[in-house]
Amino acid sequence: MKSIILAGGAGSRLYPLTQVSSKQLQAVFDKPMIYYPLTVLMASGLREFCLISTPIDLPRYKALFSDGSQWGITIEYREQPRPDGIAQAFVIAADFIGKDSVVLMLGDNIFSGGDDFPRAVSSFSQGARIFAYHVKDPERYGVVEFDRNGRAISLEEKPKYPKSSYAVPGVYIYDNDVVEISSSLRPSARGELEITDVNLEYLRRGKLQVKRLSRGFAWLDAGTSGALHEASAYIEAIERRQGIKIGCPEEAALTRGFLDIRQFEALIDAMPACDYSAYLRGVADEWYRLEGPGGER
Ligand code: TTP
Repeated sequence: MKSIILAGGAGSRLYPLTQVSSKQLQAVFDKPMIYYPLTVLMASGLREFCLISTPIDLPRYKALFSDGSQWGITIEYREQPRPDGIAQAFVIAADFIGKDSVVLMLGDNIFSGGDDFPRAVSSFSQGARIFAYHVKDPERYGVVEFDRNGRAISLEEKPKYPKSSYAVPGVYIYDNDVVEISSSLRPSARGELEITDVNLEYLRRGKLQVKRLSRGFAWLDAGTSGALHEASAYIEAIERRQGIKIGCPEEAALTRGFLDIRQFEALIDAMPACDYSAYLRGVADEWYRLEGPGGER
């Protein structure tokens, strides 16, 4: 399965911050925002990435991630000249997707907790799999309505009068039909290729699965300066309490076996002395402790 991270958009609600850098490169506590979705995907075992952003911001992402080999992954880059809609990602990245299935994740969505995503990725075979999350303000999102058997029966993009409190977070898993479906979409009234229209087509074909995320799961989106601040405070609180960092791609690469311990330590050696490198040093120590005698330095 391939992975696309969509990190374009106007970021107008974060003005003037987005005058300085792209929304998905803003700090969420101690890391750039995009580290969080990337880490979720890596922790689900995914290794082939395509990052889509604006012509202005793309060079910054290339400088940050290069080809991904330092983390045992591959990253290709594609431009989205204008924010013409989330579903345009599949048209832009059609050659990258090839004949594979694909997961699309929005670069400003932050998730923490649970194993819903690794499970959803490893058990996926066909159709579309999206998620639903109970929120206070569903009218800001795509909203899914369920029947009494928990089956999804309707989907609406930013409805004025939402039929439920379940919003669709920015992570979507599709079989290869998504390329054909998104290529034949027409722009909506607001001029975008809508991801909700892709999901509606799968619903029409009887191939849409909607998984409700569990209560303990956190989904934060960082689209406004208030939400950005709240996301930072949340990450800080969890990291301080648990002594475990959320959103470290290096740690996910080690845990998933994309890097061996020597490669992992070489990454740390190249970092400045800081909390982040000290944390990763602790992860390496824990690795040696668990691996026992065979894993000695
Ligand atoms: P939004 O938050 O809906 O839009 P935005 O980022 O442009 O922000 P604003 O409304 O403040 O102007 O987008 C959700 C995510 O999807 C975000 O990570 C940007 C990304 N996106 C694209 O990369 N391309 C697009 O065409 C659209 C619509 C969104």
